[in-house]
Amino acid sequence: MSTSFKFIRYEEDNGIGVLTLDRPDKLNALNSDVILELKTCLEEINKDGSFTIKGLIFTGEGEKSFIAGADISEMQTMSKDEAYKFGWMGQNVSLLLEDMSVPVIACVNGFALGGGCEMAMACDFIYATENAIFGQPEVKLGLIPGFGGTQRLAKVVGRAKAKELIYSGRNMKIDEAVACGLVLEKFATKGAMLTSAKKYLEKVSYNSPLAIKLAKKAINDGVDLVTKDGLEVELDCFSKGFQSEDMKEGTQAFVEKRKAIFKGC
Ligand code: COA
Repeated sequence: MSTSFKFIRYEEDNGIGVLTLDRPDKLNALNSDVILELKTCLEEINKDGSFTIKGLIFTGEGEKSFIAGADISEMQTMSKDEAYKFGWMGQNVSLLLEDMSVPVIACVNGFALGGGCEMAMACDFIYATENAIFGQPEVKLGLIPGFGGTQRLAKVVGRAKAKELIYSGRNMKIDEAVACGLVLEKFATKGAMLTSAKKYLEKVSYNSPLAIKLAKKAINDGVDLVTKDGLEVELDCFSKGFQSEDMKEGTQAFVEKRKAIFKGC
């Protein structure tokens, strides 16, 4: 990574990217500077939609908080136009996470409130520790979610549950978050969670990176359409994989009864 950051850290461990929100004195709250750093970092990682890493883990520094939301002190004095720009920037980062060409796992430790819950939902799936707390508490501040919460939460947990959570602004503990499908798996410790996330990303990296990218695009772009239109998106992605180097290698390796070595092209 050529850029250095103040509020985030980006490291690579055996080809797996680990992006850590590093503003623990404010429970990793998202202000404009943090959001800009996230944007710069994600754009650099995903340059040209390339496969320079096997996958990405998104987590928060410390045990107490993944991200405790958008920065309330900064939002307090925002005008309507400034708020629009702030929301747009946050949504933009959520889309960068969602559209990464490699798998992205949110590893949630502690609070994932407001913008924290929203950023986690933009990842492919969420792992979380037993102390994780999810919620969209914006109405308690006279606000509503603005980084994608009204849309993604309703898609993940269903409209009724999303409305119940957003209208009340209440916190949701880990078991409820797993039960409603927001969290894929819970872990006793942050260490165990990060190890499992790395293991998963390592394992899938032996599959075709191009095929994973196409499968992700088919799901992301197609799943909210009516089935007929979603199938068209699938067909487009399905056919794009044909005659790729990865497809030639994968099918050839099957015929030759050996392990395929994929290049992601
Ligand atoms: N924006 C700005 N600062 C925040 C923040 C946020 N969303 N969440 C926490 N902080 C800051 C606190 O102001 C405090 O800063 P200070 O030490 O300079 O006073 C620091 O982080 C620690 O937070 P604190 O409230 O003292 O910790 P706690 O353990 O008592 O409570 C929370 C933790 C998460 C329950 C509480 O911080 C909270 O309710 N945060 C806001 C959550 C929220 O509404 N998010 C959605 C925003 S749209």
